[in-house]
Amino acid sequence: MCGIVGYIGGQQAYPILIEGLSKLEYRGYDSAGVALLCEDHLEMVKSVGRLRALEEKVGATDLVGTIGIGHTRWATHGRPCDENAHPHSDCTNEFVVIHNGIIENYQSLREWLQSEGHTFRSETDTEVLAHLIEHFYEGDLKEAVRLVIDKVKGSYGMVAMSRYEPDRLICARKDSPLVIGLGEGENFIASDIPALLKYTRQTFILNDGELADVTRDSVIIENGNGVPIDKEIIHIEWDVLAAEKDGYEHFMLKEIHEQPKAIRDTLRSRITADGLVNLDEVKLTAEQTKNLLKVVMVACGTAYHAGLVGKYVFEKLLRLPVEVDVASEFRYRDPLLGEDTLVVVISQSGETADTLAALRLAKEKGSPVVAVTNVVGSTVSREADQVIYTWAGPEIAVASTKAYTTQLIVLYLLALHLGQLMEAIPNEEVVLLTQELTQLPSHVDQILRQANELTEFTSRLSQWEDTFFIGRGLDYAVALEGSLKLKEISYIHAEAYAAGELKHGTLALITENIPVIALATQPQLYEKMWSNIKEVKARDAYVLAIVMEGDRETGKEVDAVITIPATIPLLSPVLSVIPLQLLSYYAAVQRGCDVDKPRNLAKSVTVE
Ligand code: F6R
Repeated sequence: MCGIVGYIGGQQAYPILIEGLSKLEYRGYDSAGVALLCEDHLEMVKSVGRLRALEEKVGATDLVGTIGIGHTRWATHGRPCDENAHPHSDCTNEFVVIHNGIIENYQSLREWLQSEGHTFRSETDTEVLAHLIEHFYEGDLKEAVRLVIDKVKGSYGMVAMSRYEPDRLICARKDSPLVIGLGEGENFIASDIPALLKYTRQTFILNDGELADVTRDSVIIENGNGVPIDKEIIHIEWDVLAAEKDGYEHFMLKEIHEQPKAIRDTLRSRITADGLVNLDEVKLTAEQTKNLLKVVMVACGTAYHAGLVGKYVFEKLLRLPVEVDVASEFRYRDPLLGEDTLVVVISQSGETADTLAALRLAKEKGSPVVAVTNVVGSTVSREADQVIYTWAGPEIAVASTKAYTTQLIVLYLLALHLGQLMEAIPNEEVVLLTQELTQLPSHVDQILRQANELTEFTSRLSQWEDTFFIGRGLDYAVALEGSLKLKEISYIHAEAYAAGELKHGTLALITENIPVIALATQPQLYEKMWSNIKEVKARDAYVLAIVMEGDRETGKEVDAVITIPATIPLLSPVLSVIPLQLLSYYAAVQRGCDVDKPRNLAKSVTVE
């Protein structure tokens, strides 16, 4: 995700900006830039790539000045390149802006500004902010920023600077963090605490809707109505490493907790005011979709498990046959493809070698290819015909969590979008599903708040070397993901079984007290699941059931229960996977494993 740093004071700003940005490198980025007020003009340097590339570029210039802003960009709108890197400026280069978040209505604002004579240099949503400030500016930067934020929809943590007002930086926040670090005769701004810790531990943390006017000697914070707020100074006790993880012990735990936001961001601006789905990025026409005979989903690991959920969802909603394949198999089985087969490739990194090969094969055979990926500018995003991004932000822990849940969200949206085009789903049903989709972030939040309910089961689980996950239908697809998660970070051997398959051989492995995690969130399969739970209980397994609110029966058969909030059963995978992620995480911690960097695993697998 992007990083923001700002400085105003008596020291040279450039080294402080670079130092601050380097402390945010862990968040992932693809380009960087700085802008300084150098005597009477604004100087801006931007570069694609690492901070070193920016420093090399700056090397030749003279960036002398005591007020400046810096940014590391994780591409969202527009590929990673010098022009799209922040800061962005207006037509006259008198105003510069850095921004984290997404301006949802940027397209219409851009068109309007262009009609007013503004010229744009980048493909970003952020650039509209600079031009809007230019448009509204009447001698007071803070007032201009206030008018800008009235005009934009979406999320922002932004900092603006102007040549006309060399003694102030203006910040505004909505759904994207901003912190102000307090110094003596100097002040700092950052999107994240690690960037500040070398200089100060005294901070103001901005809340949504607040706007800050930061000078060398003062910080005035106002609420959305322009009324000054008396804000409490927060003293940061964390060390740098803890701060990078936002106070969480590991990135994996942080990323598990980021899921409500990641899901919200992935849904953002893709559901219309009347509750329908609008995926602009999918260019298939109604006629093309009506001619589709089949969908093939191809991916690896966790992304493959997302595809398995996708199969149930697509088949249920579209009544279209779906095949799901692991990419390393798909590419060698001479698959039946053609223009009537839609191929959906799913890859968090967008660089997985096998998935990429599958994508190329599908294109070669004439199939339209839609990619679901988290990384703008990745090879998959560049080579697919159409790309739908998961807006999960960078995933740093090797074990995938928020990428998986946001992949599910994109697959639901894609199914609904295609369903609308094919006229396969009545609008009322789409509206019902989108209403439920928007409830998922708060449901995930609720599950995260119950994490302590897993403690006892985790203690048992972490002492075993084998465990089973069972489920039927969608629950089986989630069981596979739960079992992978546990294996990869805790090294406990886990098997995921379609619950009805146990009796075809595997029951022999169910022994006294062996932990079994039974997912039972699909009402039409409850009775079948109860029989399967009884089978393992009869062999004295210790069973944890994941059930949905309203189910009063399943819990009676088992030793421990986790209840997820009620939702439409088709959407339950987004919720039922959360306790499984937490279970794996806590088991791995109890076993002393290196959670964020499990052995023999890489975040991006670029070899076959
Ligand atoms: C598991 C995990 C891997 C990846 C797989 C595909 O936690 O992260 O199984 O899902 O290597 O990676 P991407 O999605 O980047 O193609």
